[in-house]
Amino acid sequence: MEKTINSTKANKLRFDGIKPIDLSIDITEEIKKLKKEMNAVILAHYYQESEIQDLADFIGDSLQLSQQAAETKADVIVFAGVHFMAETAKILNPDKPVLLPDLNAGCSLAEGCPAPMLKKFREKYPDHILISYINCTAEVKALSDIICTSSNAVKIVQQIPEEQKIIFAPDRNLGRYVMKKSGRDMVLWQGACIVHETFSDKKINRLKFENPDALLIAHPECEEAVLNNADYIGSTSGLLNFVTESERTEFIVATEPGIIHQMQLRNPHKKFIPAPPESNCNCNECPYMKLNTLEKLYLCMRDRKPEIKLEEEILKKSLKPLERMLEMSR
Ligand code: 13P
Ligand code: SF4
Repeated sequence: MEKTINSTKANKLRFDGIKPIDLSIDITEEIKKLKKEMNAVILAHYYQESEIQDLADFIGDSLQLSQQAAETKADVIVFAGVHFMAETAKILNPDKPVLLPDLNAGCSLAEGCPAPMLKKFREKYPDHILISYINCTAEVKALSDIICTSSNAVKIVQQIPEEQKIIFAPDRNLGRYVMKKSGRDMVLWQGACIVHETFSDKKINRLKFENPDALLIAHPECEEAVLNNADYIGSTSGLLNFVTESERTEFIVATEPGIIHQMQLRNPHKKFIPAPPESNCNCNECPYMKLNTLEKLYLCMRDRKPEIKLEEEILKKSLKPLERMLEMSR
């Protein structure tokens, strides 16, 4: 079947100085062809557009994507996710090209925690170790002792000796959640995700009242008021497993709605209601994740750019805390 892109998108690509896409091609088929020619693997996060998820070799949460990147035999990694995820794949594969469809696909948590500021912050607590959530830049990873993700943060903190003091950066909501689950006190960097902080507990309560059989499931990046009400809290893959294994059939989903594509595919007869944001906007969608499109995915493979580049020293320093995470999650 022929796939076309709208002319505004095509013009935009032309203005950006990129050779335009031949509108007669089937982009999906071209991506599959390029993947074979390049011996590439396409890794995608659950928040990507459904058409990208459908094409990916592997879809996962941040930990699973890092594990896949660490183990891949492919020559090229094409990362359909955000910048810090592609950077992580590069740190784990310094000799392989890692392509990201749009280099502007950032993350509010990473942007809200610049390495020089975190370095100063850390100097105030010389006897603390620094555990950083993977949603941070490679420079922040290079400053850290251990990295964690939403699926292993509690497990990792529980492995740190009781007497060892901890700074947790950059997500204060995940940090608070980990403190509660592990019973450990931690110094928190005050960062937050613009998407998960947008969910309104008032609107969620109304939705629960209107759908009394629905369970509320939430990502730990949500605010405390939402988490206090949740029937299950977990990473994106945790949420997906929970709804699949549950005998219940209705769920209010307090995370980016991109995950609902996989929930619905695995559970066609269950009902998934996206949790509403505070205002009447689309701000429950991650604006960074949604910068990647099928067209940009095709272009990055056709042109073999944009590619993630990192300085040698940062590559070396950021590998250690990532390897510690992978070891501690086994
Ligand atoms: P997960 O690791 O749970 O997929 O979370 C990544 C993320 O960016 C959530 O906003
Ligand atoms: Fe970052 Fe939030 Fe987007 Fe996840 S949803 S990538 S934490 S901005």
